[in-house]
Amino acid sequence: MITREKVLDVLRNVKDPELNKSLVELNMIRNIQIEGSTVSLDVILTVQGCPLKVKIQEDVENAIKQLGAEEVHVRFGSMTDEERAALAARLKSERQAQTSPANQGVGTGHPSPLLSPESKTQFIAVASGKGGVGKSTVTVNLAVALAREGKRVGIIDADIYGFSVPDMMGIEQRPVVIDQTILPVTRFGVKVMSMGFFVEDNAPVVWRGPMLGKMLRNFFSEVHWGELDYLLLDLPPGTGDVALDVHQLIPQSKEIIVTTPHATAAFVAARAGAMAIHTKHEVIGVVENMAWYENKQGEKEYVFGRGGGEKLAQALNVELLAQIPLQAPSEKDVNDPNYSPSVYDESHPIGQLYQELARKVMVKVPVR
Ligand SMILES: Nc1ncnc2c1ncn2[C@@H]1O[C@H](COP(=O)(O)OP(=O)(O)O)[C@@H](O)[C@H]1O
Ligand SMILES: [Mg+2]
Repeated sequence: MITREKVLDVLRNVKDPELNKSLVELNMIRNIQIEGSTVSLDVILTVQGCPLKVKIQEDVENAIKQLGAEEVHVRFGSMTDEERAALAARLKSERQAQTSPANQGVGTGHPSPLLSPESKTQFIAVASGKGGVGKSTVTVNLAVALAREGKRVGIIDADIYGFSVPDMMGIEQRPVVIDQTILPVTRFGVKVMSMGFFVEDNAPVVWRGPMLGKMLRNFFSEVHWGELDYLLLDLPPGTGDVALDVHQLIPQSKEIIVTTPHATAAFVAARAGAMAIHTKHEVIGVVENMAWYENKQGEKEYVFGRGGGEKLAQALNVELLAQIPLQAPSEKDVNDPNYSPSVYDESHPIGQLYQELARKVMVKVPVR
């Protein structure tokens, strides 16, 4: 026989995908009614129109059907302002509890457990000497590949003027904000935070330096990241303010340098590498993007030159981690829920190269 207790028991294993806590623990399950093999219940979401509603509904239904229920009726409601405020306060106090006193001074907002000395998160900044070399493409695909390897991964799109990560990943939703706490948007298993989420209609961001630095800190202090194995930062091109800010805020960050195969472009990128060394960010390797184009005959055409990645890797005394050829991700229909302009499928030859890159990164920067 199905009982209220049994229903609650199975729902203890169903988590809110964004908060990564059980629906029962979050007090989101209410009003359970059982009539024979029909179970109906209310699921109280954090906000109306929660983007993950469908997923939650599926998970709840599947869990209850395991008890032998033939029909499950889920009604959705949303928390009252008081309930939301209480939840936000709880999330905030949890973040603070995970943060050591030594870290309390960081930033202007609340501290972040990700930056505390006890944090197990590995930071990897992706840098390049100039724009347009595929830095964001590499960041996004490396993140997705690490997630496919079973890692808990986040991306901070720190290219605050030139944010592109949400579009590249095909993210259309905006993050859920509970009071002062922002929940990152999850896409292809990766948690994403970007300035692009907070800018109306792609209006250009005209804020100056100090505001940008604060933004970056807010991406730590105001965002409920949960536990992460890897946090990738898509840095702005070159060696400007934000890059310096990242170096200051996360001195322990490792760095990957992206370059094109052109020897001159590589020379420019070398500057970024030199700065990384100067600020004591450990460069773990170079990724050469747009390395060649494979023509219809299966021959490699070196359209952007050749040898730049190897040259830069030698100059920095690090490994050339990957050479990624030119090729668009396979064309999915725009209406396909898995459509994204820049993420390669795991089965795509370039997707495979990114899995190899991810495995190398996991060896060089092991999960703690
Ligand atoms: N290997 C590749 N094959 C084909 N197009 C690519 C490749 N890498 C990047 N691109 C495209 O090149 C452009 C610049 O890449 P992007 O990642 O935005 O560079 P960056 O972040 O360095 O400015 C984008 O339109 C991207 O889709
Ligand atoms: Mg970019």
